[in-house]
Amino acid sequence: MLRTTTCGALNIQNIGESVTLCGWVQKSRDLGGMTFIDIRDRYGITQLVFNMDDNTTLCETARTLGREFVIQASGTVVERSNKNLKIPTGEIEIKITALEILNASKIPPFLIDDETDGGDDLRMKYRYLDLRRNPVRNNMVLRHRMAQSVRRYLDALDFIEVETPVLIKSTPEGARDFVVPSRMNAGEFYALPQSPQTFKQLLMVSGFDRYFQIVKCFRDEDLRADRQPEFTQIDCEMSFIEQEDILNTFEGLIRTLFKEIKGIDLPEVPRMQYADAMRLYGSDKPDTRFEMQFVELNDLVKGHNFPVFEQAELVVGINAKGAAHYTRKQLDELTEFIKRPQIGATGLIYYRHNEDGSIKSSVDKFYNEVELQKWAAAFNSAPGDLILILAGAKDKVRKQLNELRLEMGTRLGLRDKNTFSALWVLDFPLLEWDEESGRYHAMHHPFTSPKPEDIALLDTNPGDVRANAYDMVVNGTEIGGGSIRIHDRTLQALMFKHLGFSKEEAQKQFGFLMDAFEFGAPPHGGIAFGFDRLCSIFAGLDSIRDVIAFPKNNSGRDVMIDSPSTIDDKQLQELRIKTDLK
Ligand code: AMO
Repeated sequence: MLRTTTCGALNIQNIGESVTLCGWVQKSRDLGGMTFIDIRDRYGITQLVFNMDDNTTLCETARTLGREFVIQASGTVVERSNKNLKIPTGEIEIKITALEILNASKIPPFLIDDETDGGDDLRMKYRYLDLRRNPVRNNMVLRHRMAQSVRRYLDALDFIEVETPVLIKSTPEGARDFVVPSRMNAGEFYALPQSPQTFKQLLMVSGFDRYFQIVKCFRDEDLRADRQPEFTQIDCEMSFIEQEDILNTFEGLIRTLFKEIKGIDLPEVPRMQYADAMRLYGSDKPDTRFEMQFVELNDLVKGHNFPVFEQAELVVGINAKGAAHYTRKQLDELTEFIKRPQIGATGLIYYRHNEDGSIKSSVDKFYNEVELQKWAAAFNSAPGDLILILAGAKDKVRKQLNELRLEMGTRLGLRDKNTFSALWVLDFPLLEWDEESGRYHAMHHPFTSPKPEDIALLDTNPGDVRANAYDMVVNGTEIGGGSIRIHDRTLQALMFKHLGFSKEEAQKQFGFLMDAFEFGAPPHGGIAFGFDRLCSIFAGLDSIRDVIAFPKNNSGRDVMIDSPSTIDDKQLQELRIKTDLK
């Protein structure tokens, strides 16, 4: 080895030892007779000292070192007169007797330090330099530790990690596929898996019984802070189980991660029906770090000639506790917020519960004090509270109020990144109506089983059929989802029929799975967690990009390697994508 120890290991106990360190020059200070160099590796920083009186040549070489030069330095550990107690090596320094420059470095385009002056684009272009910085590297270390913890937990429960193929045929998870042309099969394409869904089900038919994989998935969808075109799942499947077994096994996984990685005892994860989540939070992934549940007001407000409420399908509000001090200007800001096109509400109605117990609303013309006191009872509002109300079509107004609730939660400081609130959302609808295509889509995926008691509704009220499907939500982010699967050919064929597939289409696309169901498919179910999302929540970050070593930007580009990129004509010809070439 080129070194005897690392730059984070030495302390007062090592005084007098001869050591050799390797690393990058973090900074240098030339004080005339003495030169100090901070040398850095992934373990820490150690101060090297060069004395002109001891060795002039060495000291002069040290003066030539620029930031990020890679060096090897040998010397003796000595006690520092000017101690830095903020770092573990801060009580010592190395009196250098030999120095070798292993490689020079150009001046880096941004500061390689905890706080950097580099903007996003620059840091992405030079991601390998960004990864030298502690906060970025620490995210990778956290990710590694989480992956190890997941493997330990699942291995102890007899789960087997099996790799499934990456060049496959489309799996319908609701996004577009990335496709890869096949050179050997002209005009034909592989698809990259949106998830290993069908393969893990086939592994259950094979008798693997408990499978997992920490696996790359690919989805060609619009990107957001919590979405990347390629991302990683902790993908799991089990046989001979019921929903309850899945919930318990994987709640155990998440609680173990919280304990091992963050030292947090996560309480038992509460469960909520999808329908209740929509009614109380207007979202299937409510942020339960704070209450502020929806209160529906139809019974109280109708019949008072206030046109907005009269015409609305739903009048619903939230109690922003302690926000009665909100000024007219702040309320105008909130109104602007909900009127933005992304949210699309038409107006905000509010009342202030004043300190003297009186109530002042924006609709006093239509509701007297007695009526308003009834509202106050419904909202359980107390002096000092601000109540915000929206009205409109049910589904829309719930979505809008969800946005307003989250905004108020943020403004009132109720969404602390170091507080964690997990939730199971259960009993999702099986199907979801899609306006654009004018037909039902599987809300989760087509392999999810309906609740047996709801199967009869498939013909009459398909939208009311509930699925054996569940999501885990942490702090308002969907971190995982799964379902109990269909394992019977007839039921699977019926599902495809309801999803608008002809018999032939279903057979062409999924015949392999339905055929497998005829060879003794066990009852099975599973779940997949978004590993990047889980890591970013554990790291207290807003974007999953920060827990991915080499992420894509918002346009799906890797600006470091400049991808996607064009390929040359010869390659296109070989792939039979372009045939008009000589
Ligand atoms: P689903 O589509 O819900 O289920 O995905 C599972 C989890 O993966 C994460 N996720 C993503 N993370 C980052 N970027 C993306 N583009 C992205 N898309 C999804 C989410 C999500 O909860 N095969 C089923 C699982 C099953 O039924 O077992 C599936 O893939 O955290």
